[in-house]
Amino acid sequence: MGSGIAQVSAAAGYETTVVEVNQKLVDRGLGMIAKNLGRLQEKGVLTAENRAAIDARIHPSTDLAALSGCDIVIEAIIENLAEKRVVYAKLDEIVQPKSIFCSNTSSLSITEMMTATKRTDRFFGMHFFNPVPVMKLVEVVRTIASDPTVYQSTVEFAASLGKTPAQTSDRGGFIVNRLLVPYMLDAIRAFEEGVGSITDIDNGMKLGCGHPMGPFTLLDFVGLDTTYYIAGIMFDEFREKRYAAPPLLKRLVMAGWFGRKSGRGFYDYADPAAPKPLDGLLR
Ligand code: 3HC
Repeated sequence: MGSGIAQVSAAAGYETTVVEVNQKLVDRGLGMIAKNLGRLQEKGVLTAENRAAIDARIHPSTDLAALSGCDIVIEAIIENLAEKRVVYAKLDEIVQPKSIFCSNTSSLSITEMMTATKRTDRFFGMHFFNPVPVMKLVEVVRTIASDPTVYQSTVEFAASLGKTPAQTSDRGGFIVNRLLVPYMLDAIRAFEEGVGSITDIDNGMKLGCGHPMGPFTLLDFVGLDTTYYIAGIMFDEFREKRYAAPPLLKRLVMAGWFGRKSGRGFYDYADPAAPKPLDGLLR
């Protein structure tokens, strides 16, 4: 998601510093941006001149110190509260005090992250959706400590990226995952109970309700590990059954079947153009 956020920021005209933990990951992120921009150029949406201008606005680094002069820092590291707190404590020392911090977390508590810094009044969630260059929504998450003026300017920044900001407060899953996660978990329960096949449940929501992807295609796209992790955080927060991971999801994650990115999940992606549903193995 970090590369997508960097892409939309640079495309919106902002000088964008990107920091990764090593050069290999920097190169991977830049490669994803190059692929996306190349596709837009091929389609004639982006001129070579504009593409060069976007590229020139992206400044890669492996050193957090490169972020010192940034006005806004958007963190999209691993979804681990302890690791995020370590990074934020370091950033708080490095980055100028007036700068805004935002986390792209999908479900961790913004409040628990912000207390690793001294800038609790200018610390927000800024939750993008996959694929970032395409999905139009950004959730902008305030906390009880937020400065209302700084929050509004952060909402305006999200809009300036060409996104529609949704304003929300720091509750597990914010708006979208609060609704989306139980929906995806319910699809797995329906499959477990024999309500329908993977294909029929996917077609039900795709063709019956006009969703761009059915729930199993979406689960594999988001990542089963990510969904399992988010569900766990939301279950801890609300203690409600609808956020509890169904046994089949747990088994898939334990087996390393994370969906599209690992080659197998509810579908087999040996031929990515024609994923094969794995009903037979998963029943
Ligand atoms: N990066 C950049 N652009 C991409 C892309 C990617 N990874 N994948 C697709 N695109 C672009 C294509 O270039 C194409 O652009 P065009 O319309 O200008 O030609 C457009 O998106 C449509 O792509 P395709 O024609 O190849 O395929 P689809 O029409 O099936 O669209 C999709 C692909 C946009 C991914 C669509 O299937 C979709 O909207 N799926 C649902 C995605 C979704 O629900 N995301 C949210 C997940 S939840 C989340 O992220 C939160 C987290 O916390 C869990």
